[in-house]
Amino acid sequence: MDFELKTLALGTAADEKCDAMVVLVTEGLHTGKDALSSLISQALAAGDLESKPGKILSAYGAQGLACQRVVLAGAGDGSTKSVRQAVAAAVAVVKTGPAKSLLIVFSAAPRVGAVRAAVLAAADASYAYTTTKSKPEPRKLKRVTIGCANSSSAKTDFERAQALVLGVEMAKEWANRPANHATPSMLAHAAKSLAKQPKIKCEVLGPSQVEKLGMGSFMAVSRGSDEPLRFIVLRYDGAAKSEPPVVLVGKGITFDTGGISLKPAPEMDEMKFDMSGAASVLGVFRALAELQPALNVVGLIPACENMPDGRAIKPGDVVTSMSGQTIEILNTDAEGRLVLCDALTYAERFKPRAVIDIATLTGACMIALGGVRSGMFSSDEALANALLAAGESALDPCWRLPLDDEYAEGLKTHFADVANVSGRAGGAITAAKFLQRFATRFPWAHLDIAGTAWKGAAAKGATGRPVGLLVDYLLNEASRPVAPQGKSTGKRAAT
Ligand code: BES
Ligand code: MN
Ligand code: ZN
Repeated sequence: MDFELKTLALGTAADEKCDAMVVLVTEGLHTGKDALSSLISQALAAGDLESKPGKILSAYGAQGLACQRVVLAGAGDGSTKSVRQAVAAAVAVVKTGPAKSLLIVFSAAPRVGAVRAAVLAAADASYAYTTTKSKPEPRKLKRVTIGCANSSSAKTDFERAQALVLGVEMAKEWANRPANHATPSMLAHAAKSLAKQPKIKCEVLGPSQVEKLGMGSFMAVSRGSDEPLRFIVLRYDGAAKSEPPVVLVGKGITFDTGGISLKPAPEMDEMKFDMSGAASVLGVFRALAELQPALNVVGLIPACENMPDGRAIKPGDVVTSMSGQTIEILNTDAEGRLVLCDALTYAERFKPRAVIDIATLTGACMIALGGVRSGMFSSDEALANALLAAGESALDPCWRLPLDDEYAEGLKTHFADVANVSGRAGGAITAAKFLQRFATRFPWAHLDIAGTAWKGAAAKGATGRPVGLLVDYLLNEASRPVAPQGKSTGKRAAT
């Protein structure tokens, strides 16, 4: 999909020729004497339109308008959230018709972030997965133009949005693919193709290299599968070599049957989304390739399937992780933490300024926070606050959950250094406590995206989250250089 940004006043929008037009109507709008303005004020006065976000009025062939199809969309107070809601509702209407190009008009000067919200919402509402359809329907909406009074002030916002659309759609694509179309090798291939972009490199390790590294925990999970595991290392080198990188670690379980601790059949197909963390890392790198920020970023993806088999790990088995810590695998369905812990140990070699892992880790997190906010855990106040702020500004919010040591009590066992599960209570937190044991040498955060990475039921599909949050965080970091060894050179920029 193509995007364009254009300077346009509400007064002149009536003369714009386009397939379809969406006009964002904010509260207290000053309307002029032009045809579009009078349409809006008449509709508001008659009660057929409200400025409340999500309220829609479609018009066809209205007098004095060059554009046949016009959708008036209430955009509330013009906040990023209201604009997103308005555009989502309006594009849902437009896409049922034949329009190929769409003009979205801001009737009042857009707030910071509002143009980005509009672009992302338009892309999201018109997205459709097609890869494994025999007769894929091409995307009907080909072009979206954003019109606002002063387009130069919205330019940065607009460019970030375009990069984000590419990142979010790459994350959606890989998360949506069925597991037989998104094997560990295929994920690795996708990562390799990202390395064609400027400043991006990719290295892929296979089973023998992973064994040499001593990743006994990661290897244990993959034992039950005939698909060979892959350990993907992506680098984006946007700053001097001496600059410590931010490391992103994405859970890449391309299918999670639960292993010998087999999951029940209903909705098991959704476990193809269990590599959404990995997909978000790929998506972030896609966006970095466009934005080229002055920052170093490493992406690590431990990718494998979790399958039951004669060679699969069994409840009670003890394995040795790359860190040297032994782990009693009491439940083979708690596999995410088993692949992540070795990737976290691997991250140490980069002397990172921060490590963030992203994982569809626990059903418990989905129960706790639902699909609105991702769970966030961090051992570092500054990192936690930076992620919270990035989540708010990107409209991809997270919520911090605790890491009190008492939550780790249940992970104690007589047979190894640590068990991979504790009781059902506080399941998202005990999973984070397990990971924290492997993240002691750098500022660390964990995002549990089990509830936010995809939608279930009729709307089934990947959301592309938390690409938006991560990109905002990284761009903020790029304007806050730090010295090697993680010493801060100055004050953290306000986020
Ligand atoms: N991939 C799942 C987590 C999950 C479940 C995400 C449902 C989204 C929806 C993870 O590997 C898992 O199975 N976790 C177990 C942990 C338990 C055995 C301690 C869970 O949440 O049930
Ligand atoms: Mn599992
Ligand atoms: Zn899983």
